[in-house]
Amino acid sequence: MRWHCALLGTVISFLTALNGGFMWTRESLNELVKEKLSGYFFMAVSNREPYIHTFSGRKVSYQMPASGLTAALDPVMQACGGTWVAHGSGNADTEVVDKDNKVMVPLDNPRYTLKRVWLSKEEVDGHYNGFSNEALWPLCHIVYTRPIFEESDWNMYKKVNEIFAQSILEEAGGKKAFVFIQDYHLALLSRLIKEKNPNIITAQFWHIPWPNPEAFRICPWQNEILDGLLGNDLLGFHIRYHCRNFMDTVDQALEANTAWDTCTITRGGKKTVVLPFPISVDFEEISSDAQRDEVGKEIERLKNSLGLDNEMIGVGLDRIDYTKGIPDRFRAFDRFLEKYPRYRERAVFIQAGVPSRTQIESYRRLQEETDSLVEEINWKYGARRWKPIITLWEHASPVTLMALRRMANFCVVSSLHDGMNLVAKEFVASRFDDDGVLILSPFTGAAKELTDSLLVNPYATDHFAEAIKESLEMPLEERQKRMRKMRELVRENNIYKWAADIISELVKFESGG
Ligand code: F6P
Repeated sequence: MRWHCALLGTVISFLTALNGGFMWTRESLNELVKEKLSGYFFMAVSNREPYIHTFSGRKVSYQMPASGLTAALDPVMQACGGTWVAHGSGNADTEVVDKDNKVMVPLDNPRYTLKRVWLSKEEVDGHYNGFSNEALWPLCHIVYTRPIFEESDWNMYKKVNEIFAQSILEEAGGKKAFVFIQDYHLALLSRLIKEKNPNIITAQFWHIPWPNPEAFRICPWQNEILDGLLGNDLLGFHIRYHCRNFMDTVDQALEANTAWDTCTITRGGKKTVVLPFPISVDFEEISSDAQRDEVGKEIERLKNSLGLDNEMIGVGLDRIDYTKGIPDRFRAFDRFLEKYPRYRERAVFIQAGVPSRTQIESYRRLQEETDSLVEEINWKYGARRWKPIITLWEHASPVTLMALRRMANFCVVSSLHDGMNLVAKEFVASRFDDDGVLILSPFTGAAKELTDSLLVNPYATDHFAEAIKESLEMPLEERQKRMRKMRELVRENNIYKWAADIISELVKFESGG
């Protein structure tokens, strides 16, 4: 087996070197893991869990959350195996775990272990609602929502990071381990792990933007957060711009040596490599799921239930979050109908949205603002059965989401600021027919790669309205040319490549970096 793995590694390196001649797949990632991580215990850790068990009546069922993080990491874990440690947030989560709080997932084809960490309501409130989402989230997304810094939330954030550290240390035991930490909920984790077990190698991926130093410095605990993140051997962001912002922030805040040429920061003798890894999706799986018969049937069902005839369709598919620019796209659709009345009764915009972080005031306000805007626009233009905006405010099933992507003449991703935005890549992966136009905000990480979309500043309502018109009037040949190029790009830079690039970097630390 070992010679096989070694040979495969050589082949992979050779093909990768050919640049573009090799496509990462679940299988090749699995081989890479066997070769490079043999003898190591592989663990991932995030606040959000990939499968949430809930009661429906007395029955237990599960849902996959509306989360780019879990959607991206689940196929990677299925390829790599190992253990994923996450907060057990479902009301039936305790029903399905064993005495060590573990359950094998996916349930129909178990590939890895999900180990759940339990948190009290107070802990969730201070850590998740409070410091993670009322302080760090608005701090890192510059969308003019003021961060709230509460000392009690910060204390809970520290406590919860310690709870996760404890769970990981127990799981790793004396084993050699790689721990892959996710996101802004766990900024202190690597330090806490390494204080107790310096042999554990850690990488952390920050799924949201990192802002400029002037924005970040208002955080009263910026030094502790930076120091915590520098506990990692490897720190990843989606794009180079976020890496530079992070290095700048460290430069201005801490005593550390930042080496721009090697993308490393050294502090107290400890080196952290800071690199961009643009996250992606499982292109082949999405593209083949899009072709299933049930999706065709779902399109028919949706058209009937929404009372659609032959209208042109725009879609938005988001977690309901103030960073996503949902009211901004409605204002643009309003302007479009105002300027081009010939599209009234001929075009609709369907917005599917999953309620998110509803305990937080700014999210509740957004829901109210959005609902009243939709009401106003629908009242302004609505005629007979036709309403310009249709909202589906519920957790749509994967097949419904797929049907919406397939039905769309255009898909809007209008984030005011976004780390990557996988909705854009999922849309591209779904369009095996090479049709459909993506209208994309330049303030997403995805805009760096998907340059064949229509790039539109969501704050510029008139320009945005013009882009909607352009998408509906674009000739088929042009749509296909753009979509083919974007599909090629996402196919090649898929989620397995993202993971393979990180793992290939990570193993360099095996021998001390
Ligand atoms: O985009 C940032 C992020 O935390 C993702 O990592 C995750 O996919 C999404 O937000 C969902 O957030 P939550 O876990 O709060 O539902």
